[in-house]
Amino acid sequence: MAQTIYLDHAATTPVRPEVLAAMEPYFTSVYANPATIYSMGMEARSAVNAAREIVAGAMGADPDEVYFTSGGTESDNWAVRSGALANAENGRRVLVSSIEHHAVLESACALKEEGFEVEFLPVDGEGFVTPDVVREALRRPASLVSVMHVNNEIGTIEPIAEIGEICRERGVLFHTDAVQSFGKIPIDVRSQNIDMLSISGHKIYGPKGIGAFFLNRNVAIEPFMHGGAQECGKRAGTLNVPGIVGLGKATECAVTDLEPEAKRLSRLRDLLIACLFEVIPGVVLNGSRRQRLPGNVNICIPGAEGETLLLALDEAGISASAGSACSTGSTEPSHVLTAIGVPRELARGSLRLTLGISTTEADIQRVASTIVKITDRITKMRAPL
Ligand SMILES: Cc1ncc(COP(=O)(O)O)c(C=O)c1O
Repeated sequence: MAQTIYLDHAATTPVRPEVLAAMEPYFTSVYANPATIYSMGMEARSAVNAAREIVAGAMGADPDEVYFTSGGTESDNWAVRSGALANAENGRRVLVSSIEHHAVLESACALKEEGFEVEFLPVDGEGFVTPDVVREALRRPASLVSVMHVNNEIGTIEPIAEIGEICRERGVLFHTDAVQSFGKIPIDVRSQNIDMLSISGHKIYGPKGIGAFFLNRNVAIEPFMHGGAQECGKRAGTLNVPGIVGLGKATECAVTDLEPEAKRLSRLRDLLIACLFEVIPGVVLNGSRRQRLPGNVNICIPGAEGETLLLALDEAGISASAGSACSTGSTEPSHVLTAIGVPRELARGSLRLTLGISTTEADIQRVASTIVKITDRITKMRAPL
């Protein structure tokens, strides 16, 4: 059987060999608690500090503005809840885009119990939150706006610099979930007017269970976890040193490869889209053609059913996704496809193919021809006798 082709890099990525090698000593020989004062502890601490510098540098922040967390979900929870509460005097109202990850959506909804009004900013047909929509919504006071940098399902790159500027002019905190964009396209917290930002290790060939949270030093928010003095008392708990070192190494590799890899993946993405459009009647590309994450392809195939497509692809040795990983198992159409106006019936036939460092042109050709065969079979099966 041919080798498996993994096209679900938006769900998670394999750990790079360099990352694994960098982490290994911190499990076995430099295992001291980084809060201790003896040499091994100091060594662990300096590895954490080095990782913090790398992560901060990759987003244009200073190291003292970066806190290590357990991942994107934790960073999103921290930003939305603590950010909203910290700026509540500006208005007990929170605005989040309607296509956010559930970590943001659910965190926002939980704030209703604290007397916050929660509003979902609409997106256009390509998934953009337009600056005008934000401007209009902020005619009324609010404490926080959260709009993701790149959508995890359709890959749309949001105009976050402009949105951040509008927020800043009105004294509203701006959070962006950069879990899908960090290390893949440039991010700069200063020029993009970002107060808080979330990233995750396992989306950039780092380990799972580690992430980071950027908090502008001029913003004071409540700690996420109470306990010891780690992370300046803002996020208590013994640091996950191997994870942090892994995140640092993964970030370093991602930054080094960013430009050539973005170019290479954009070319492969466009090739895959072109191949599919050539042969599948009525296929629809979800998201934007212009402002799209390099490795993201998200299509709807009329008459097909996501789950059937995935099982058939799996049988052919191709791992893909029907929507976001977190909604796997749900038969409801994705909230993202619904928000961009994809009709319910069409949304059922959605397929997300996300490319990564191992993806080759030969993979693209094999995937395209397999999808065509599967679609053909499914459509014939469904055709009236
Ligand atoms: C946009 C986005 N935000 C947040 C998360 C959650 O990150 P983590 O898995 O590190 O908790 C994900 C993961 O799927 C994501 O795609």
